[in-house]
Amino acid sequence: MAVRRAGLFTRLILCAHRRSRVQRPVLRLLSCPGTVAEGLRRDEPLSGSAETGSEEKTPEKKFFEVQNERRDQAQRTVLIHCPNKISEKKFLKYLSQYGPINNHFFYESFGLYAVVEFCQKESISSLQNGTHTPSAGMEAAIPFRSRFFNLKFKNPSHQASEPAAIQFSNQLPPSSRKLFDLLCCAKSVDDQLNTLLKEFEVTEENTKLRYLTCSLIEDIAAAYFPDCTVRPFGSSVNTFGKLGCDLDMFLDLGETGKPSTDKTLGNFLMEFQMKSVPSERIATQKILSVIGECLDHFGPGCVGVQKILNARCPLVRFSHQPSGFQCDLTTNNRIALKSSELLYIYGSLDSRVRALVFSIRSWARAHSLTSSIPGAWITNFSLTMMVIFFLQRRSPPILPTLDLLKTLADAEDKCMIEGNNCTFVRDLNRIHPSGNTETLELLLKEFFEYFGNFAFNKYSLNIRQGKEQNKPDSSPLYIQNPFETSLNISKNVSQSQLQKFVDLARESAWILQQEDQGPQSPSNHQPWGLAALLLPSRVSTKSLAKKKSKKAASERVKNLLESIKKNRTENLTST
Ligand code: GTP
Ligand code: MG
Repeated sequence: MAVRRAGLFTRLILCAHRRSRVQRPVLRLLSCPGTVAEGLRRDEPLSGSAETGSEEKTPEKKFFEVQNERRDQAQRTVLIHCPNKISEKKFLKYLSQYGPINNHFFYESFGLYAVVEFCQKESISSLQNGTHTPSAGMEAAIPFRSRFFNLKFKNPSHQASEPAAIQFSNQLPPSSRKLFDLLCCAKSVDDQLNTLLKEFEVTEENTKLRYLTCSLIEDIAAAYFPDCTVRPFGSSVNTFGKLGCDLDMFLDLGETGKPSTDKTLGNFLMEFQMKSVPSERIATQKILSVIGECLDHFGPGCVGVQKILNARCPLVRFSHQPSGFQCDLTTNNRIALKSSELLYIYGSLDSRVRALVFSIRSWARAHSLTSSIPGAWITNFSLTMMVIFFLQRRSPPILPTLDLLKTLADAEDKCMIEGNNCTFVRDLNRIHPSGNTETLELLLKEFFEYFGNFAFNKYSLNIRQGKEQNKPDSSPLYIQNPFETSLNISKNVSQSQLQKFVDLARESAWILQQEDQGPQSPSNHQPWGLAALLLPSRVSTKSLAKKKSKKAASERVKNLLESIKKNRTENLTST
């Protein structure tokens, strides 16, 4: 293990000695991925002069305002598969004949793609009218008109041989090699956490691509349900999204049962004639089943469509090939959208929240505590809840409890979903910033210590009240669902996975403690801080278990020897 570690770091640790124990004040981020302003602010340093809890006031947008703005942007946007040797200037000139262009970017994913946002929606139909349906040669194409196009040269030989180089927008996280490079060259542990965040967070372009993909899927679903919307939720929009994370989509068919108040003349009420099925779940399954078929047969770029309709939350899973996103489409899942909004609030309140969550998620992934395959492991969602809970427990608290957010809510924030009270304040500007100024380094260490010693056998985590409570059942890990309060979001986690988490947390706390106490010698060319935590565990769980059983065995032998000795003494005395 040590050899592997040394190999990986040979080049990078040269700069490890450059680190210092500088503890910088933390900047309160004014925007997050998902906000339109984010792109403008990405260049701002993550550690700067403003302190957490300072009074700077730039109004933050509400979650639904961001969603609506992004959705509107996406509806004016098209996705174009381009030939490789394309001149950007000619390309834009060609497209401008359909209407003024607001912005565009190129990216590579098994070919060259362009995302082009027009200023007006009308430009899209103008472009569609100027586009022809190809004949597919030997195969038969299904003539489906979407906003995903294929651009070809009329006459490839007329194209300039060496067009000016195009700048590509990156859609993937950095390699582990590059990440370790950056972490080892950082100036402090705080700097490391902020670096990891900056490298992994979804970019402005990636966010645009996510909203565009939802918008393209919405066009397909609209063939059945013209008033539907497809909205992203989960980590794509809750400020905890990492480049490469999946795209969770919510097919919103509008709320049933709400009478329209448009025309009130006379004592009449008009209703749609509808078919009905025995339960809400069956309705969800039927809807997702036809949308799944539709995506499979007519959705350009949608491949590997699987209908997972018997899951607790039925879904259609597919790959959207041109964007490279793994998509999960659900419906009747309004509470998950509300959870995303709550996490958006928590992620935007204090810059330390996202930095800590990104690092803990990367740490968990590096040690295989989380996985993209469903199973008995902890999920990213649960890990985020653990960080939020931990930050609520600091003194003074860094994050408010959900109950406090509820008391700050006004009449417009009131929200009931399926009988569950999901009310909390949605205006970030009305939440008082925390006075806590603890560094990320301290928080990281304390996180591991806190959960390395948490009485999981007795207590559940409750972010609504911000305190532990007696567990209502025997699940190894119990994290109360914030809105459906009788549910446990980590019900799937097995005892052995929880034990692995606890062992690794203790080990990580120990590593950080050693670094604090050890001599700070520049010749100590070892990965340090967060970089050291992302390496394979020094004490693997197996060896920990072995150590434990060895210790138990030696204890047994010792006891046996002592009892023999005692017996002999007793015998001798009696003789
Ligand atoms: P990634 O791992 O980056 O995809 O994080 P994620 O937050 O997007 O998680 P995931 O894709 O697994 O789930 C998407 C969203 O569904 C989450 O953000 C939650 O809002 C919700 N969700 C996921 N798991 C649970 C759960 O066990 N219970 C509840 N109530 N909601 C969940
Ligand atoms: Mg997700």
